[in-house]
Amino acid sequence: MSTLQFMQAKRNGRKISMLTAYDYCTAKIVDEAGIDAILVGDSLGMVVQGKGNTIPVTLEEMIYHTEIVRRAAQNAMVIADLPFPGGHQMWEETLRDCSRIMKETRCHGIKIETSAAQQETLARLTDAGIPILAHIGLLPQRILQLGKYTMQRQREILLRDATAAQDAGAFGVLMECVDFEIAREISQTLQIPTIGIGSGPHCDGQVLVLHDILGLSGRTPKHAFQYADVGGSIRAAVASYKKDVEAGGFPPQ
Ligand code: KIV
Repeated sequence: MSTLQFMQAKRNGRKISMLTAYDYCTAKIVDEAGIDAILVGDSLGMVVQGKGNTIPVTLEEMIYHTEIVRRAAQNAMVIADLPFPGGHQMWEETLRDCSRIMKETRCHGIKIETSAAQQETLARLTDAGIPILAHIGLLPQRILQLGKYTMQRQREILLRDATAAQDAGAFGVLMECVDFEIAREISQTLQIPTIGIGSGPHCDGQVLVLHDILGLSGRTPKHAFQYADVGGSIRAAVASYKKDVEAGGFPPQ
């Protein structure tokens, strides 16, 4: 999957599938299942590191996890998150961070939480050849300012942010918790694909956090669906092993 195929999918009306992954084992499974794109999200701070939000995730940690996922992915496009403070530095510093991620991980694109205020930075990055997926709507890196995770309904601001990203050369726009009707309007307005999370069925593709759909994160956000209880399977397997060891049944005589 390349950025060109991303665009083609939108033109052909084929929905794009995206999931997060953070390690070799799950990235390989996701890739083999034929998912179009793997996002190494800074959500790893919450679902892998057990932290309360994504803000503490570092550039080094993003590079570490993205390099592992990229090695596992044979077909899927691998996109890395730019950690806090994202594009809110001098553009030269943002360019340096993005190029480090690209050189050291061989990922195919970078996701940046953004707004129209970062249009110039985005344009500088795309001009340098960095494929950018612009993340608009609910921006988890602003959680300390926002106070809680809520639906975003400011139509004009959302339309302005999405259009600014397209004009800056982004290959796609990820919309998190955007009002469904506004998400529909943005998806119809933009030439580039939109990928939704909690933004309804009218986006050009969907993304979810892998641990949420597998029952591994201990939560199922309203917008997600638990497709399997992998957490339950692991608990049962570990309990059986403990029982066998204690009863002398493992290893077998
Ligand atoms: O970090 C992440 O995994 C994300 C998704 C929730 C879209 O940004």
